[in-house]
Amino acid sequence: MKVLVIGSGGREHALVWKIRQSPLVDKIFACPGNAGIAELAECVPIEAENLEGLLTFALDQKVDLTVVGPEAPLVKGVVNLFQSKGLNVFGPSQEAARLEGSKAFSKELMARVGVPTAAFQTFTHVAGAKHFIVEKEPPFVIKADGLAGGKGVIIANSCEDGIRVVNDMIENKLFGESGELVVIEECLTGDELSVLLFTDGTSIIPLASSQDHKRVYDDDRGPNTGGMGAYSPCPIVSDEDVHKIIERTARPVINELKRLGTPYRGLLYVGLMMTEKGPYVLEFNVRFGDPETQAVLPRLKTDIVPIMSDIARGTLKTRTLEWDPRACLTVVMASGGYPGAYEKGHEIKGLETIREESVVVFHAGTTRNKTGAVVTAGGRVLAVSALGATLKDAHDEAYRAIERITFTGGFYRRDIGKRVFEKMGVGGT
Ligand code: AMP
Ligand code: GLY
Repeated sequence: MKVLVIGSGGREHALVWKIRQSPLVDKIFACPGNAGIAELAECVPIEAENLEGLLTFALDQKVDLTVVGPEAPLVKGVVNLFQSKGLNVFGPSQEAARLEGSKAFSKELMARVGVPTAAFQTFTHVAGAKHFIVEKEPPFVIKADGLAGGKGVIIANSCEDGIRVVNDMIENKLFGESGELVVIEECLTGDELSVLLFTDGTSIIPLASSQDHKRVYDDDRGPNTGGMGAYSPCPIVSDEDVHKIIERTARPVINELKRLGTPYRGLLYVGLMMTEKGPYVLEFNVRFGDPETQAVLPRLKTDIVPIMSDIARGTLKTRTLEWDPRACLTVVMASGGYPGAYEKGHEIKGLETIREESVVVFHAGTTRNKTGAVVTAGGRVLAVSALGATLKDAHDEAYRAIERITFTGGFYRRDIGKRVFEKMGVGGT
């Protein structure tokens, strides 16, 4: 089989790494890929949002299966386009991808089918939003309706801040068109949990639980990022809990999309807050999480390719996936300044020192310069994943590895997993 993976981040490196292990696969292309992906696949310089370019390439190469990594091409309709030419593609249609592409669509759908989610209201005018804010108590969670690269959610701790954020989004177009509509939500508290599942719109197969670390600095300080580290499994929930959470949150949404004639096919990411009143959905994402994928896939023993092919054809059968009993912990190394402005082109040193069987370095924003050196090319640069008998072992192994990697301005959080160690007692599971 020839497989095409669209995207260039750490998530896509993990996908390519896992797909490469399938005996069904002879050749992998990545568009556009990165320096790490280039070790496993042929990287082709077609950007992930150049849908026509991707289609022409997939038809020319007679690609058997296309796997879409990021949300932007899904929301733009890459799956509809590929399917219209008879190509097999793993990912939801443009209609189903609105679950992530429009927070208002997603919240209204959840409210309609009774999925627990924070109380909310939507606004297109500053005046209405201001009126709402002054009537309510802070904090306010203010979200741009459309895609904003993981940065479109702002928590305002006072009415003044809330009004400023709404002004920035609607009037000053801080997130472009994405912020012309804003969603203001009640602020929930609790532990966050990510549940990923495979579905073809009818059958559902859950993946192992995981937990992300969204804030840029230790102890959950600083602005939100795409994710600075993750671990799997998440010891605060059992497999049975994950099953119940899916039935209560994802199943009604999947059923509703099927009823609307736009069944969801692909990987569905359910972002949850475990509140005192039970699990509440913060968001749905229509693709694998980054960096959750880098912590989950190293533990997956089952071949991922037949599952993706079955989903592309809508013939998924419910079954249990096989997991490595070891835990996996992932630490992201980012460029100085991220999630704000950052420099590119710094040489990454120490990669060749990582040889442990239990450690994988997934590349995110990397490329090779003219002399062949691996250099930084993005905000999140690497994700170092380690397997260990316990979460603490995985943690120690990941940090021992990442300490050997350096680049100018590079930084990482030193507390990935810390909260769970404190909660569960050192060792985890
Ligand atoms: P989202 O992209 O909607 O998941 O939001 C990004 C992050 O913002 C989440 O992972 C949470 O940390 C935070 N967040 C989103 N919605 C809420 C909410 N209603 N209450 C508290 N925190 C939230
Ligand atoms: N790690 C969060 C996300 O992928 O959206």
